[in-house]
Amino acid sequence: EGKHKVTIVGSGNWGTTIAKVIAENTKEHPDLFEPDVQMWVYEEEITIPEASKLHDSSSEYSTEKHKLTTLINYFHENVKYLPNIALPHNITANPSLQDSVKDSTILIFNLPHQFIDKLCDQMKGFVLPYARGVSCIKGVSVSSEDIKLFSESIGEKLGIYVGALSGANIANEVALEKFSETTVAYDPPPMDSRNPTPKEGRTPQASQLDLTKITEHKDSSGLKSKVRLTPQPSELPPLDHQLLHILFHRPYFHVHVVSDVAGVSLGGALKNIVALAAGFVAGLEWGDNAKAAIMRIGLLEMRKFGKMFFENSVRTATFTEESAGVADLITSCSSGRNYRCAKMSVERKISIGEVEKSELNGQMLQGTSTAHEVYGFLKARGKEDEFPLLTSTYRILQGEAKVEDLPNLVAKPNEF
Ligand code: NAD
Ligand code: 13P
Repeated sequence: EGKHKVTIVGSGNWGTTIAKVIAENTKEHPDLFEPDVQMWVYEEEITIPEASKLHDSSSEYSTEKHKLTTLINYFHENVKYLPNIALPHNITANPSLQDSVKDSTILIFNLPHQFIDKLCDQMKGFVLPYARGVSCIKGVSVSSEDIKLFSESIGEKLGIYVGALSGANIANEVALEKFSETTVAYDPPPMDSRNPTPKEGRTPQASQLDLTKITEHKDSSGLKSKVRLTPQPSELPPLDHQLLHILFHRPYFHVHVVSDVAGVSLGGALKNIVALAAGFVAGLEWGDNAKAAIMRIGLLEMRKFGKMFFENSVRTATFTEESAGVADLITSCSSGRNYRCAKMSVERKISIGEVEKSELNGQMLQGTSTAHEVYGFLKARGKEDEFPLLTSTYRILQGEAKVEDLPNLVAKPNEF
C-alpha cells in the first residue's frame, strides 16, 4: 500500500551487511519503505562462537545448539557470519524462503553464486509479479553455450527485472561503517517510468500496455531482456536511480548509480579470478610489483572479456572509473578472501579448498568456481589463449601449471 517492502535473499558476511545498510535506510524513510526488512537465512544449528562479544554470556543461549535465525532475532547479531556487529532491530531473520519473499516489492539477492539457481526454482510462484531486484552476487552464470549475468538469469527465472550492485566492499569494513563506495547498476525498461508517452493522447493504464513489446526490450546497456514484465502499481514510489540511491546510500557507504548492468556485474565476477592470481604470487613473496602487474593484466582481460562477449553493452569507463571496476580489483587483491586463501595455499603448500574449509568458518570463495566456469566458457569458444591470466589461474588451480610460471604464461612480447 504505497510503500516498498524489501527482502534480502541471503545472510552471509555480505548479505547481513547489506541487510544492515538497507534496514538503516528503510527506518529513516518510512514514507517510501516499510521499515521492517526480511532477511532469508539458510537455517543451521550452531552454538554461539566464543568470538562473539555482543551477547550476554550467562544467557541460556550460550552453551546449547540453537537455530541461527533464533540467535539472530534474539541477539540482533549474525553470530556466525558477521559476529560482533549490532544489527538494526527492524531486520527479521526468516528461515522460510517463500514466506520471506512473498509480498516484497524489492528483492536483494546476496549469497554465494553456487546456490542461486536452485533458490530461484524454490521462489518461483511466490514472488510478486511486479517485484524488482538487485543482485549483489559476484559471479557469472555459465554454461558451455552461454554466459549470463545473474541479473539476467534471476530475472528470467522469476519474471522480474533485476539490476546489480558491486564495488570495493570488504563486508566487515562496511559493517564497521568504515568509508567505502559502491556502484549500483539499474536500467529497467520504459514501462517502469511513470510517464510513458501516450500513444493516443492519453496515458495508458498498466493493463493496456502492450507487454509483448516489452519482452523484446533492449535496455540502454544493450542487454536483451527476455522477461515479460508486469508493471508496478502506480501507488508505489517509482523504483528509479534516485530511489535506489536512497535505499543503499549511507554516510559511510557512498553509492553511484549507473545503467551499465553488464560492466558492473562482470567487474565483480572476474576480479575474483584476478585476486586468486594476486594471492598466488604474494604466497611466493614476490612483492608489490608482481601484484601490480597481475592487477594491470587482469584489468585489461576483464575489459576485453566484457567487450568481446557483451559487445554493445559494457562501458569501458565502468572498469576504469567505477568502484565496481578498478577499486574492487585493488581491494580484493589486497585483503579479499580469494586473495588471502590463495596466498595461504601457496605458503602452506595445500589446496585452496583445504584453506577455505579451515579458515573461513562456512564463508565461501567465489573465485575458484568462477575460474572453472569462465575457463569452460572460453575453451568452448577457442578463446582461452586470448585471456592468458584468466586461463593460467584456472590451470594453477587444477595443478596443470605452476605459480612460478605465471610471468611466462602472461608475457606479451613487444611487437617491433
Ligand atoms: P558467505 O561467504 O558469508 O557465504 C556463506 C553463506 O552461504 C551463508 O549465509 C550460508 O548460510 C549460505 N549457505 C551455505 N550453504 C547454503 C546452501 N546450501 N544454500 C543456500 N545458502 C547456503 O557469503 P557472502 O560473503 O555474503 O557472499 C555473498 C555474495 O556477496 C558473493 O557473491 C560474494 O562474492 C559477494 N560479496 C562478498 C563480500 C564480502 O566481503 N564477504 C563483499 C562484496 C561482495
Ligand atoms: P572476497 O570474496 O575475495 O572476500 O572479495 C570481497 C569483495 O568482493 C570485496 O569487494
